Amino acid sequence: MNFKEEIGRKTEQIEHMIGRYLPAEEGYQKTVLQAMNYSITAGGKRLRPLLMAESAALFTEVNEIWQMTEGGLQDGNSTQQTVLGRALSLFMAALEMIHNYSLVHDDLPAMDNDEYRRGRKTTHVVYGEGMAVLAGDGLLNYAFETAAQAFEGAGTMEEYRRIAQSMQILGRKAGIYGMIGGQCADLEAEAMGDDVSEEMLLYIHEHKTAALIQSAMTIGATLAGAGQEDIERLEKCAYNIGIAFQIQDDILDVTSSLEVLGKSVGSDEKNNKLTYVTMHGLEESAKQVEELSKEAVRLLRSFPRRNPFLEELVEQLIHREK
Ligand code: IPE
Ligand code: IPE
Ligand code: MG
Ligand code: MG
Ligand code: MG
Repeated sequence: MNFKEEIGRKTEQIEHMIGRYLPAEEGYQKTVLQAMNYSITAGGKRLRPLLMAESAALFTEVNEIWQMTEGGLQDGNSTQQTVLGRALSLFMAALEMIHNYSLVHDDLPAMDNDEYRRGRKTTHVVYGEGMAVLAGDGLLNYAFETAAQAFEGAGTMEEYRRIAQSMQILGRKAGIYGMIGGQCADLEAEAMGDDVSEEMLLYIHEHKTAALIQSAMTIGATLAGAGQEDIERLEKCAYNIGIAFQIQDDILDVTSSLEVLGKSVGSDEKNNKLTYVTMHGLEESAKQVEELSKEAVRLLRSFPRRNPFLEELVEQLIHREK
């Protein structure tokens, strides 16, 4: 199977998995549930859940991981594997919910004020601003409700420990010391113009974007039983992937189109954002993306178990067009 087929198959599997955990659209709160599902079923690359599963696969058998996540509780060869597989799929769905909430809020008029996302009108354009705020809140809460279900399957102290540690990573990387912190600095930087330092820009990229990618990779590793030293090395690797990912996002905001990207372009200029591109130009930015990604691949290769698919994925992200 070539890379394109493999990523297609895996993304489909993730899509299916996320679908299983979405709330039913019923009751007096039906509208907020529809708004939540509207945003999360719009597709997207599903990169974070994919990175989570593939990082778990760095510490355990690759095929097993995908069989386990697909089969959930029913399948799997032993209790140990089954608990891991179910926990992994719950955390994959939870992280994608958090990512989606961040996008719904990021697009609001009070933030980036964007009209298109994943080839559709943004959530607030369709459901109104109040409902979009609630849909974001709903996704965030439901993410933790979903992830916490992993405890139900745990039997041993070690399983409880891995799941508890994963909950902690998810909370921290999505929160004030992670993504929210980055979005805060990102908003304030709009009014600072050229006073934004390179250090602050890096803080913004690290927190608003790399943090969730770090949570994806370190949760995958944690659930698969990686040791602390390996988890830290993977966090470093995810940092490089995350910074490269945001620089590429900023490049595409300048060079791409709504048709290809599926989301509004020119958003950064409209909002007076200082980015890698405005600071260093397109060519230097592209070079940075490549260097950071190569460093990430080098770190991936330093683990005893190789994951060629994951290495290829990081390489492919260098030239991504959406
Ligand atoms: C967009 O993330 C927000 C950033 C952190 C740049 P993605 O580019 O992963 O968005 P989707 O999920 O594929 O739509
Ligand atoms: C947003 O960065 C990162 C988030 C935490 C949502 P951007 O504002 O550049 O993301 P896009 O371009 O709207 O997807
Ligand atoms: Mg933004
Ligand atoms: Mg935005
Ligand atoms: Mg952007």
